[in-house]
Amino acid sequence: MEKINVSICTGTSCYVMGGSELLLLEEYLTPEQRELLELKGVSCLDLCHDAKYGKAPFVKINGQPMEQASVQSVLERINALLGGESVSC
Ligand code: FES
Repeated sequence: MEKINVSICTGTSCYVMGGSELLLLEEYLTPEQRELLELKGVSCLDLCHDAKYGKAPFVKINGQPMEQASVQSVLERINALLGGESVSC
């Protein structure tokens, strides 16, 4: 199975809008789920400069942007991509 790429923006705009909590995402995953994810922090995803996107914080999952990302919403997206395996916070 190909890994799910999760890029969490650690830029200032995202960080102050809640991105700091997203950096705890890994704590909510089981070891098996961690094996299936490629988690990384990115200094700025360049979404904060594009008016077509909403509010920070931003995350990209397999290249797809998520706006106003929260730990819960990211876990839900990951859960859906993993085929419904339970992931919650
Ligand atoms: S600071 Fe997060 S997208 Fe730019």
